[in-house]
Amino acid sequence: MQPIQAPFPATRFRRSRARAATRALTRETTLTADDLIWPVFLRDGEGVEEEVPSMPGVFRRSVDRVVEAAAEAHALGIPAICLFPYTDPDRKTKDCAEAWNPENLSNRATRAIKAEVPGIAVMTDVALDPYNIDGHDGFVHAGRVVNDETVEALVRQALSQAEAGADIIGPSDMMDGRIGALRDALEAEGHHDVMLMSYAAKYASAFYGPFRDAVGASGALKGDKKTYQMDPGNSDEALRLVTRDLSEGADAVMVKPGMPYLDICRRVKDGFGAPTFAYQVSGEYAMIEAAARNGWVDGERVMLESLLAFKRAGCDGILTYFAPRAARALREG
Ligand code: PBG
Repeated sequence: MQPIQAPFPATRFRRSRARAATRALTRETTLTADDLIWPVFLRDGEGVEEEVPSMPGVFRRSVDRVVEAAAEAHALGIPAICLFPYTDPDRKTKDCAEAWNPENLSNRATRAIKAEVPGIAVMTDVALDPYNIDGHDGFVHAGRVVNDETVEALVRQALSQAEAGADIIGPSDMMDGRIGALRDALEAEGHHDVMLMSYAAKYASAFYGPFRDAVGASGALKGDKKTYQMDPGNSDEALRLVTRDLSEGADAVMVKPGMPYLDICRRVKDGFGAPTFAYQVSGEYAMIEAAARNGWVDGERVMLESLLAFKRAGCDGILTYFAPRAARALREG
């Protein structure tokens, strides 16, 4: 489509920008609380809220506190909350069995939230890293992250999450073949309505640093995740991964990190028209928050502008640690 434009002065772009009312009328994209998924960190205990040092303003919460947080998010109109457990180092093993323990932190929190705040969708994370003594998303055999054995474990993990009541399952592990295996297992066990939001285009990124502190994986991780996460130089590969995951039964796809990868969001949305999400990851949060706390940028405006950019790039929604603050700011106008 080629927009028709009369020459100046018949066309003056500043006409529609001249007043707030016409700026609002001509705005192409908007951000609402409906667009937000709030990732939260869990920890053991009761009445605990402990700040993550590299993510000021973000807390690890005990189950009772995360239920309160979910109620608050629901009241703000946020549709979904995404759970990430901090696992005590002594619970981490080579076989990652805690990942499918029905009583693990993530499953206990899911049940508690679904009991108290049924209206908010609970999203859970499928990957072995919080439970793995090696810190990787998959099993490490002889120094290699093995694919097929890991997928079997991911299936057990996802089924335990679906049993606990998860509405959306988010495989963030980047193993090959996991979407098909998860979909088959969920169907076979009668979990027909559990959504799979695939972390389809997940890059091997330095922007995950603060998250690994938050879930206690930084200490355990040896080496990097480049043999399973994407190379930041690749773009066509993202489309091939999205094709693969949609054809294996993903209901929605995700691009991660977010802001440095908006070109990927746009290609994915244009290429498939599928529900497309981006994850504004921990390092992105930390950069904005650090600059804001230093008085170097207006934190609230930068937060909202960064989130609107995802919508403009074609995303249907954003996972963001700013979710409750953004929802509140949007409500207050
Ligand atoms: C791991 C996982 C990571 C994030 C979500 N799930 C980190 C990683 O891949 O090392 C990162 C989220 C963030 O940085 O906010 N399965």
